[in-house]
Amino acid sequence: MTNETLETLKSRRSVRSYLPKQVDEEALQAILEAGTYAATGMNRQSPIIICIQDPETREMLRRLNAGVMGSDRDPFYGAPTVVAVLADKNILTHVEDASLVIGNMMNAAFSVGVDSCWIHRAREEFETEDGKALLASLGIEGDYIGVGHLILGYRDGELPPTRPRKENYIYRA
Ligand SMILES: Cc1cc2nc3c(=O)[nH]c(=O)nc-3n(C[C@H](O)[C@H](O)[C@H](O)COP(=O)(O)O)c2cc1C
Repeated sequence: MTNETLETLKSRRSVRSYLPKQVDEEALQAILEAGTYAATGMNRQSPIIICIQDPETREMLRRLNAGVMGSDRDPFYGAPTVVAVLADKNILTHVEDASLVIGNMMNAAFSVGVDSCWIHRAREEFETEDGKALLASLGIEGDYIGVGHLILGYRDGELPPTRPRKENYIYRA
């Protein structure tokens, strides 16, 4: 069986080289909204989504993220939009909730012609003073931990080919 949704899920790939072109605003809003419709444990909606397009803020996050790896490269691969997803650590399912938000946005992005890649190290980023200051500047209070980022943009080059799925992925009993 196939349909448009299944095709999107199967053909999306992580993209690691971006054009400087900013994401279309209508597409961005659709992607972010799709994130908010992710299922969450007991519908507690524990995550928050921070969409970063301001070059200075992006640069600050780039520096923090690269710093975790002891490098100075751009872990966001030149993508002009970085979406950080954090979640309230007091809620039991916060990591699962935030992961599903990122997954929703990733697939929604691909469905509207926007490329993406999950980027790690959000937890360490938002444990720094600069990370905390960003949250404070947005009026965000509470026990939020960074779960991940989704970078968004338009790929520079071809979409990587789909790679085979491992054997024994699925068991049925
Ligand atoms: C939890 C998680 C963390 C990831 N962190 C990074 C990362 O920091 N940098 C990166 O380039 N890709 C990262 N990725 C992307 C994976 O490498 C990618 O999804 C995987 O290689 C499969 O490729 P595909 O998304 O094209 O199917 C991450 C993916 C997940 C789910």
